[in-house]
Amino acid sequence: MMAFQKTKMNTTLLPRLLACSSFVLLISLSSCYYDNEEALYPVRPGTSSCDTANPTYALTIQPIMQNNCQGCHSGSAPSGNLDLTTLDNVIAGVNNHHLMGHVMGNSYSLMPTTGSLSDCNIAELNAWIIKGMPAK
Ligand code: HEC
Repeated sequence: MMAFQKTKMNTTLLPRLLACSSFVLLISLSSCYYDNEEALYPVRPGTSSCDTANPTYALTIQPIMQNNCQGCHSGSAPSGNLDLTTLDNVIAGVNNHHLMGHVMGNSYSLMPTTGSLSDCNIAELNAWIIKGMPAK
């Protein structure tokens, strides 16, 4: 009876231990990553850090659009019929075209289609929207 219980415990405990330790490993890996501010918020030229405190269209958002979106979202036939070269159009993108849904890639196709924005740029976009999408 004792022997049976011991075997049973070992077979159920091992997968749990494995699952638990890989979970702990995952958590510690990701916390290492998120502790690394340089990797999370790469410093852009002209800024001291990732600007989530006072992001503006002129200084923060326009460069993100220019560097990551306008290659497809500009000109006479912009992708998705969405031009992202002006403040009004970016605001319309947020309000009417699920822009953040696309940037996060949740429920909508990931934008840019070529790969996700940096965590810093996503944080800046979120902060800018929360602050009411100021021009400058
Ligand atoms: C390589 C080309 C490309 C790049 C770069 C790109 N997009 Fe797109 N985008 C598309 C295409 C193609 C569509 C239409 C198909 C779709 O919705 O997946 C689209 C659609 C969208 C839409 C939905 C429009 C609508 O009304 O349905 C949004 C919002 C959007 N993109 C935002 C962005 C943003 C913001 C960026 C930059 C962070 C970006 N895109 C970068 C090609 C691109």
